[in-house]
Amino acid sequence: MKDKVRDTYDKIAGCWKSKVWVQSSDFNARIVKFADTSGNEKSLDVGIGSGDLETSLSLADVTGIDLSSKMIEECRRLHPHFKLYVCDAEALPFDNESFDFVYCRNLLQHFEDPSKAFAEMYRVTKRGGKILAIESAVYKNETFCVTPIVRVTEPHHPEFPSHEMLRVLFERCNVGHIEQRVEGLHKKWLNGWCKSKAASEEQRKQVIDICRSLPKGYRKKYNLAVYDPPSEIESTLTFSFIKGYK
Ligand SMILES: C[S@@+](CC[C@H](N)C(=O)[O-])C[C@H]1O[C@@H](n2cnc3c(N)ncnc32)[C@H](O)[C@@H]1O
Repeated sequence: MKDKVRDTYDKIAGCWKSKVWVQSSDFNARIVKFADTSGNEKSLDVGIGSGDLETSLSLADVTGIDLSSKMIEECRRLHPHFKLYVCDAEALPFDNESFDFVYCRNLLQHFEDPSKAFAEMYRVTKRGGKILAIESAVYKNETFCVTPIVRVTEPHHPEFPSHEMLRVLFERCNVGHIEQRVEGLHKKWLNGWCKSKAASEEQRKQVIDICRSLPKGYRKKYNLAVYDPPSEIESTLTFSFIKGYK
């Protein structure tokens, strides 16, 4: 499965910056507020991609890792001063307690079981240091609605994460002072995600069909609308913002 994740992101690394589908200055501003950093922390972004989040988080000392060497190449081009490594989040090449601030955005959703990757994030965090995860997620009884959609462009995608599961990850590692918030991002997103280079006509059609077949209550709750003719999908995507201290 990791090979497929690596291949997927290697292929889209060059255009990731323009199509990070969560990209929105307002959304990033909410993350920055929630992260509440001083800027001077020794920081580690796990699954950094091309470093989109760092354009908003003003951190002086950034280390980033990613499974995709192409993402790391792109990140290096955009942020030459970062310390960047190609490696697996489940085996971080750092000593215990190396960083003051360890964070990820939309990384944990790539694992069948994210406990090992999270345990690594915890291991490399200093005592008293902060751990933050920003993950697309829905409530536990709704994962069946989203999983088929993300599996169209990433067929190997595991079950979509739930807010509850993310909290359990933090609790199991005895992270202290956990704060979790569910945040929404309203977006017209066929242009950004589904219309990406990687998506074929067939995939686009599948996504539209799945969206149309979702339970009415779910569509209402997430403001999900598919325009006719189906040129765009609009919906409120939800995320868990969750942080705590080691
Ligand atoms: C959805 S992208 C998010 C990128 C970036 N965090 C952002 O928000 O723009 C997920 C990233 O996680 C990386 N990734 C997935 N599985 C990984 C793993 N096992 N170890 C390290 N990185 C991984 C992917 O290569 C990709 O760059």
